[in-house]
Amino acid sequence: MKETRKYIGVALAAACCACFAEDVTIENFESGTYGGWTAEGDAFGEAPSTGPIFGQQDTSGYEGRFFANSYFQGDDTTGAITSKEFEIQKDFINFLLGGGARDDVGIELVIDGQAVRKSRPIFSEEKLRFMSWDVKDLKGKTAKIRIFDSARGGWGHILADQIEMSDVYKSEIMPDYKAKFTADKKYILLPVDDSLGDIPFFVDVDGERVTEAQAIRLARGDKIDYYVPINIEKYKGREVAIRFDAHKGYKNLDKISTSDTFEINHDEKFRPSYHFTPFHGWMNDPNGMVWHDGEYHLFYQHNPYGSQWQNMSWGHAVSKDLVTWERLDPKICPDGLGMIFSGSAVVDKNNTAGFGKDAIVAIYTYAGGPQGQMQAIAHSTDKGRCFEKYEGNPVLADRTKGDFRDPKVMWYEPESKWVMSLATGQTISFYESKDLKSWNKLSEFGDGIGAHGGVWECPDLFSLKTSDGKTKWVLFVSINPGGPNGGSATQYFIGSFDGKTFKADKLRYPLWVDYGRDNYAGVTWSGAPGGRRLFIGWMNNWDYAGGTPTLHFKSATTLPRELSLDDGGRLLKSAPIKELERLRAGKMETEGGQNFVKLKDASGGAYEIVAVVRPGSADEFSLSLSNGNGESLDFVFDVKNKTLVADRTQSGRTDFAHNFPSVMKAPLDKSTSYEIRLFIDRGSSELFVNGGRTVMTNLVYPETPYDSIKFEGADGGPKVEALEIYKIAPAAIAK
Ligand code: FRU
Repeated sequence: MKETRKYIGVALAAACCACFAEDVTIENFESGTYGGWTAEGDAFGEAPSTGPIFGQQDTSGYEGRFFANSYFQGDDTTGAITSKEFEIQKDFINFLLGGGARDDVGIELVIDGQAVRKSRPIFSEEKLRFMSWDVKDLKGKTAKIRIFDSARGGWGHILADQIEMSDVYKSEIMPDYKAKFTADKKYILLPVDDSLGDIPFFVDVDGERVTEAQAIRLARGDKIDYYVPINIEKYKGREVAIRFDAHKGYKNLDKISTSDTFEINHDEKFRPSYHFTPFHGWMNDPNGMVWHDGEYHLFYQHNPYGSQWQNMSWGHAVSKDLVTWERLDPKICPDGLGMIFSGSAVVDKNNTAGFGKDAIVAIYTYAGGPQGQMQAIAHSTDKGRCFEKYEGNPVLADRTKGDFRDPKVMWYEPESKWVMSLATGQTISFYESKDLKSWNKLSEFGDGIGAHGGVWECPDLFSLKTSDGKTKWVLFVSINPGGPNGGSATQYFIGSFDGKTFKADKLRYPLWVDYGRDNYAGVTWSGAPGGRRLFIGWMNNWDYAGGTPTLHFKSATTLPRELSLDDGGRLLKSAPIKELERLRAGKMETEGGQNFVKLKDASGGAYEIVAVVRPGSADEFSLSLSNGNGESLDFVFDVKNKTLVADRTQSGRTDFAHNFPSVMKAPLDKSTSYEIRLFIDRGSSELFVNGGRTVMTNLVYPETPYDSIKFEGADGGPKVEALEIYKIAPAAIAK
């Protein structure tokens, strides 16, 4: 139906006798050209499209053959097309629109150079849908249509067609739909379907918007995966609305409701029991780790509105011993400058920033906002319970850099100044500051050294002493992809730092903190007591993190580890912190001998294996964990080739991502005896060999816990000198 003038609605016609409504087409692009339109930039190409452009998903919903499409040469081209002038003759202007649900693409009605109406695609999809403007008040005026695409990157394009004046409001969209409540309960619960795309929503209180747009995979089809809460306690008695653009076909809008409780099945099958996990929602990098007044703070990249990456804010938890955690409310939340990406926190002992002595100052990245990635600060003077963002934010910006993030700040005593390490593409840049507010660039490290298979992220620069008392500086750089066994991993450099420049010692880089697939973006605590260098990582991998088989939450942190240098400062060791031994809840009952044991009760899949193995003259030996379903996690200690191989191809559920079932390799010492500690926690395995000289962290999802543990090798088998299996009590994690 693309004729210039068309008669609509037989039913309507029947109902109201002869009153046929006649649409007037402004543009339908059926000439196959943008003739009559003026173009800026190159986003819309030479001519309208007849279907998807190379690399674009399938397009549908347009009428006739042609439609306007700004995907010309992909998402990164920008520009606009503007129509000739026309007179507004009808009550409504309808148009078909598709593409990115972003504010930097859209369609405008322009009168006297002013945009008097503006819309953007409602859903990020290539399907074009009717949207409408009510223009009754503009009838008789002369106007133009402008379709613009100022967007680069994901969904940075727009599709448009069939722009017409009509007596009928054809939109199927209910713009600004409001699910309204009087705030007399604690939460508004929103249903989520993780298989759908995100839609933006706002929270309005008494008709005023109180949040930036947040994204949610609102359940609007046939299934609901779970609910997420919005805490509305502070608006008690007022009218609170969840506002979003809805579609007439949406289901489940009546399921948005208020409640005094938010309950989930916390004990889902693959939720680790003694690792930190968020109560609900997505988690990635640990952030802002700082020790202050008896508490270890752990912040983390968090989506409070779903189990997929989105809406980055800093979730928060505190612990006195790093093994039992108290979960607190999310702390630093997105605002007009963007989402809150990774960063660090320090205690400002000398009140250099003027927020107060011993204030906790968080230094974080704004991302995804109008000005791109930049660094900002926020402070707390109440033990990290509330943070106030600095009014002078951002404190460090550089519009020339796309990747400019993850500030890790430390106090550099010799010059009484702060030093920031920042990920800048495939280098780490160092900055200095006296007050945490104004920053000068010192140097840049990374060209031509280490692994460069992906973007550099989450740096950390700190000093450690060698066993003979020398100070060495260690630089952590996470990289994704490009890890030794695929996807995300953290490399390290050892060298010197003179307050300005980091110089790496001549070692055989890349060196990796952990050779498993699932330890990423980890950094160390600032100010840990006793001079300890304590580390925690995100126990996942960008290769498949979104697909891992947990529902209400995604991801755990690794076990906390204490770092030290070995081999005279040439090797970094990470050992599980000694506090973890407190979680041991007795030895497990086993059947069998030293080389093969069966657990009488696999303790819900939460235990620690401690063994000492002497390979004797054998070239290799293996350690296998298995269950009655034929699932196993296997390690081969290839002593001859100084390699440790881990195999999780048969470890249990692996089919959620093509690159999950993998075989991983790590360097192994040639040694007469191997001290092995292997932590199993339902969905995870962490192997530490010889005090953390070789470390492998790998997720595994066995259908039932592994309950058989077997050492095998040639020459009559390895000599297992000690084998103890400790039950690990669930760490108390308060909601
Ligand atoms: C690393 C990372 C960081 C970024 C954050 C966003 O995993 O990509 O560079 O700040 O995640 O969530």
